[in-house]
Amino acid sequence: MAFYHQSTLSTHLVARWLVLGLIALSVVECRRNLLFESYATYAAINCRKHTAFLTDFGGISDGKTSNTAVFQAAVQNLSQVADDGGAQLIVPPGRWLTGSFNLTSHFTLFIQFGAVILASQDAGEYPLVESLPSYGPGGRFSSLIGGSHLTDVVVTGDNGTIDGQGSVWWKKFNRKKLRNTRPYLIELMYSNQVQISKLILIDSPSWFVHPVYSSDIIIQDLTIRAPVDSSNTNGIIPDSCNNVKIQDVNVVSGDDCVAVKSGWDEYGIKFGVPTEQMIIRRLTCNSPNGSVIALGSEMSGGIKNIRAEDITAINSQSGVRIKTSPGRGAYITDIFVDGMNLQAIDSVFWTTGSYGEHPDLGFDSKALPVVDRINYRNVVAEDVKMAGNMSGIDGNPFTGFCLSNVTIGFGTQQDNRLWNCTGVSGVSSNVKPEPCDVLADKGPSDCEYPPDPVPIDVLELNTCSFSTIG
Ligand SMILES: *[C@@H]1O[C@H](CO)[C@@H](O)[C@H](O)[C@H]1NC(C)=O
Ligand SMILES: *[C@@H]1O[C@H](CO)[C@@H](O)[C@H](O)[C@H]1NC(C)=O
Ligand SMILES: *[C@@H]1O[C@H](CO)[C@@H](O)[C@H](O)[C@H]1NC(C)=O
Ligand SMILES: *[C@@H]1O[C@H](CO)[C@@H](O)[C@H](O)[C@H]1NC(C)=O
Ligand SMILES: *[C@@H]1O[C@H](CO)[C@@H](O)[C@H](O)[C@H]1NC(C)=O
Ligand SMILES: *[C@@H]1O[C@H](CO)[C@@H](O)[C@H](O)[C@H]1NC(C)=O
Ligand SMILES: *[C@@H]1O[C@H](CO)[C@@H](O)[C@H](O)[C@H]1NC(C)=O
Repeated sequence: MAFYHQSTLSTHLVARWLVLGLIALSVVECRRNLLFESYATYAAINCRKHTAFLTDFGGISDGKTSNTAVFQAAVQNLSQVADDGGAQLIVPPGRWLTGSFNLTSHFTLFIQFGAVILASQDAGEYPLVESLPSYGPGGRFSSLIGGSHLTDVVVTGDNGTIDGQGSVWWKKFNRKKLRNTRPYLIELMYSNQVQISKLILIDSPSWFVHPVYSSDIIIQDLTIRAPVDSSNTNGIIPDSCNNVKIQDVNVVSGDDCVAVKSGWDEYGIKFGVPTEQMIIRRLTCNSPNGSVIALGSEMSGGIKNIRAEDITAINSQSGVRIKTSPGRGAYITDIFVDGMNLQAIDSVFWTTGSYGEHPDLGFDSKALPVVDRINYRNVVAEDVKMAGNMSGIDGNPFTGFCLSNVTIGFGTQQDNRLWNCTGVSGVSSNVKPEPCDVLADKGPSDCEYPPDPVPIDVLELNTCSFSTIG
C-alpha cells in the first residue's frame, strides 16, 4: 500500500522536475529556488492541506533566542485553517529554543532531520497547570509540548530531535528543591487520534511521552535517551488510555521504559478510567533502575487487555513487572506477553503487592486490587540474578499466572533462591529452572495469547508529503 503511494509520488516528481526545468530556462530569477525544490514524505494517520514553516513566523534558530511565542503564534495561526483539510507546521533544520506550547486539532508538527527543538531551562517558560484529576491535588509545570481536548494530532519528523535539556530539573529534583511536578516532554490529554513517531527524544525533565485520558494512539519509531541515573525519566506512559499501539521504540532511561498507568488511589478510583486495549511490539529497553514494562504502580482506574510482543532488554530490573498496593483498588487483568529476550536482569518475573506510595492519608486500605490472568510465553533470559520474585497481598492473592516456554540462565551474581512466590497462584509449562510449587507444571501447552488484534493495530497510515525549499 505504502509502496504504491510512494511510486505514484515519484512519477509526479519526475514530471514536476521536467516542467520546472523548462520554466527555469526562461525565468532566470526563479531558477535557484526551483532547482532546490524537493519533497519530504512521511507516514501519518492523516495528511494536511495547509503547510507553514516555523520561519514564516519569525523563528530564530540560534539555540539561544526563545521561540515560545513563535511556536504559540504558529499553532494559533494554523488552527484557523486546520478545520479545512488540516495544517502542518514544519520545523526546519536548526536549534530552536522554546518553552511550553500547545498543539491544536487536525494538526501535524513535523521536525525535519537536523532540526532540534531545545527545551528552555527557564522554569518561567512552563506556567503551572491544573493537577490531573485521577492523581489528586498538586501543582505541575506544563509540559514542553502539550494539548488538551484535541482530535487528530501528529508529532513526527524524519528523525528530528526534541531535547528536553533536563539536567537542571534532575538536579533540583534530587536536592528536593521542587514543589511542583516537573514538565514532561510531550503530554496530550483528553485527545483522540494521536500519533507520535519518527523522532529522537532526549533528556526529558521527567517523563517523555504521556498520553492521558486519550484514545486511538500510535507511538512508533522513537529513539528515547536519558542518562540511566536520571530520576523518573520514564519513556512512554499511557495513562487512562484506550486503543494504543507502541511499536519499534528504543529506550535508554533512568526509569521504566514503558509504564502503563491509570490514576492513583482514591482519586484514580473516583475518576475510574482504565488503560485497556494496548499492543507493545518490538520495544528495546536499557534501564538499570527501571523495568522494561511496568504495570502500575498507579493503576486505580484498572489495567486490562495489554499485549507485549518481541521485547528486548539489556540491563533492567525486570521484564513486565506488576506494581500495586492496598489502597489502589481496581484490577490488572488479561495481560499477554509473547517473546522476551532479556540480558542482565535482576528478576525476570517481578510482582509487588506492597508497593506503598500514597497521594495522602485519604486512601482506603481496604481497596484491594484484583490481579488475574497474567500470561508470559516464549521468554529467554541470560545473566539473571533471580528468576522470579512474585508476591501478592496478604489475604488477597494474585491469581491466574501462566508461564510457558521460559529459559533462564544465571550470571555470576546469582541469587540462589531462584524463585520467591508468596500470595500468587497459577500454572507453568516448560519453565527452566523449575518454578515455585504454586506455579505447578500443567503439562505441555502454551499460555494464552489473543488471536484478534487491538483495533488500532490494523489502521494503515497514509503517505503524506510537503515541498521543501532549501
Ligand atoms: C496567519 O493567518 C492569516 C490568515 O488568518 C494570514 O493572513 C497571515 O499571513 C498568517 N500569518 C503568518 C505570519 O503567516
Ligand atoms: C495549554 O493547554 C493547557 C490545558 O488546556 C492549559 O492549561 C495551558 O494554559 C495551555 N498553555 C498555553 C501556553 O497555552
Ligand atoms: C532514523 O533513526 C532510526 C533509529 O536510529 C534509524 O534506524 C533510521 O534509519 C533513521 N532514518 C533516517 C531517515 O535517518
Ligand atoms: C533508582 O530509583 C529510585 C527511585 O526512583 C531512586 O531513589 C534511586 O536513587 C535511583 N537510583 C539510581 C542509581 O539512580
Ligand atoms: C523482591 O521484591 C520485593 C518487593 O516486592 C522487594 O522488597 C525485594 O527486595 C525483592 N527481592 C529481591 C531479591 O530483589
Ligand atoms: C520458545 O521460546 C523461544 C524464544 O522466544 C522461541 O525461539 C521458541 O521457538 C519457543 N519454542 C516453542 C516450542 O514455542
Ligand atoms: C520473599 O518475598 C516476600 C514478600 O515480598 C518477602 O517478604 C521475603 O523477604 C522474600 N524472601 C526472600 C528470601 O527474598
